[in-house]
Amino acid sequence: MDREQWGSRWGFVLAAVGSAIGLGNIWRFPYVAYKNGGGAFLIPYMFALLTTGLSFVALEFVIGKKYRGSAPLSYFRINRRMEFVGWWQFAISFVIMTYYAVILGWAMSYIGFSATLAWGTDTKSFLFNSYLNVLPNASVTNFGGIEWHAFIPLLIIWVITLAISYRGVKQGIERVSKIAIPTLVFLFLIFVIRAVTLPGSSLGLNAFFEPQWNQLLNPEIWKAAYSQIFYSLSLAMGIMITYSSYLPEKTDTTNNAFIAAFSNSGFELLAGFGIFAALGFMAHNSGVAVKDLAAGGIGLAFVVLPQIINQLPFPQFFGIVFFACLLIAGITSLISLLEVCISAATEKFGWDRHRAVLTIGGLATLVSVAYSTRGGMYLLDVVDNFVNGFGVLPSAVFEIVLVLWVFHKMKPLMEEANLHSQIRLGGYFKISLGFITPVMLVIILFSSLITNISTVYGGYPVNFVGVFGWGMVILMLVFAVLISRLSWKDKRVFEKKEEKE
Ligand code: TRP
Repeated sequence: MDREQWGSRWGFVLAAVGSAIGLGNIWRFPYVAYKNGGGAFLIPYMFALLTTGLSFVALEFVIGKKYRGSAPLSYFRINRRMEFVGWWQFAISFVIMTYYAVILGWAMSYIGFSATLAWGTDTKSFLFNSYLNVLPNASVTNFGGIEWHAFIPLLIIWVITLAISYRGVKQGIERVSKIAIPTLVFLFLIFVIRAVTLPGSSLGLNAFFEPQWNQLLNPEIWKAAYSQIFYSLSLAMGIMITYSSYLPEKTDTTNNAFIAAFSNSGFELLAGFGIFAALGFMAHNSGVAVKDLAAGGIGLAFVVLPQIINQLPFPQFFGIVFFACLLIAGITSLISLLEVCISAATEKFGWDRHRAVLTIGGLATLVSVAYSTRGGMYLLDVVDNFVNGFGVLPSAVFEIVLVLWVFHKMKPLMEEANLHSQIRLGGYFKISLGFITPVMLVIILFSSLITNISTVYGGYPVNFVGVFGWGMVILMLVFAVLISRLSWKDKRVFEKKEEKE
């Protein structure tokens, strides 16, 4: 059996863009930007995009194409001692996937709520009380049981996702991406154009674009910017390697990397425009300053937007458009998160795709039920923060330092990329990715380690953050190290492309 392949170059690019554009762009970016000082955030964000994001996508695309394997297998082929990084990325994808599906479930419910504006005027209380019935406090021992309103849509999301994945790379992922991404862009433009033409939109846009220079010395903002770039571009989690491993030999990976990175950030900034313009409209209507509007945090999309939608002409229409965007954008990302795990498991355990989809998908479904409990919202917040801050960022450091420096792949990878590319990787790539990126990441990691040790994240009980934040990160690490000691079951792993030096 040969390795699956994409049907066309555009199929691949759309799938990669589909993975990148997701909840990160529409749900996470605006709230992270909002929480980190709005405009203050854009400078570190752009810096991270230009010095890290672009080159990092190019790196992952060429790794996948050259070594033709899931993340663990590609790293294994670089050097067997590097395999654990791939399993760590597997673990990160798995963890993200479990809460990602839950938010998609909310988005699906909100499409339904839009039809009748069921959220009423107090949208915050609707989200937390009527819909999710959230417990007043986070607690390790009391999750308050399953909340059916969240659980049922969650199951539907999983059924859809597993069904797409089950059909394979070309028939499933590629086909869905080709329809979903153009639809998404079209619908999202409707939303953004409406938002920026509202009265008061400039208030919000000013808040978004106004730089706050004094904030630039705050390391938490830099951490947020880097985490956002990694999250949004799906970097250091194995997916870009996995997707490009299904590419034919002669592909121009660098060019495709630029297309993917710029489409993603373009879409993200567009989302920022749309959401902040809408916030400006609300500020204008209520006479409250943009920065004081209620509910930053993970509720932004589900609390503030419904309030704004209420005030629009044809609110039902815009509600459905917005939440449909969230759902479409998210599904293509969820499929890709799952694909990281599926491709790795088929190679490691010699499973076929169907068995991997059912096993891993089933397991992920079970775990995600934890977030559909009444305490699930707190769990989600802590897990999202720790998996991104202390899972993804160290994973990125390991990936760069090991691939480029310890195992000396800078030159061969650049040569491979340049062989078929219109855009040459050269000095900029070396300096930005080989030097600036690891230095920035290490500084950020240390300072944020200190902050997180001296203060407890989000004001939650210490043991809650200890177990679900730190505990989870440690568990991921242990898993990665242990599983990389098992041998590969799929014998094709050894057939070709062992590095000849
Ligand atoms: N990039 C996706 C988004 O913006 C989410 C995501 C994070 C992701 N990590 C990933 C998707 C890894 C696929 C693989 O929403």
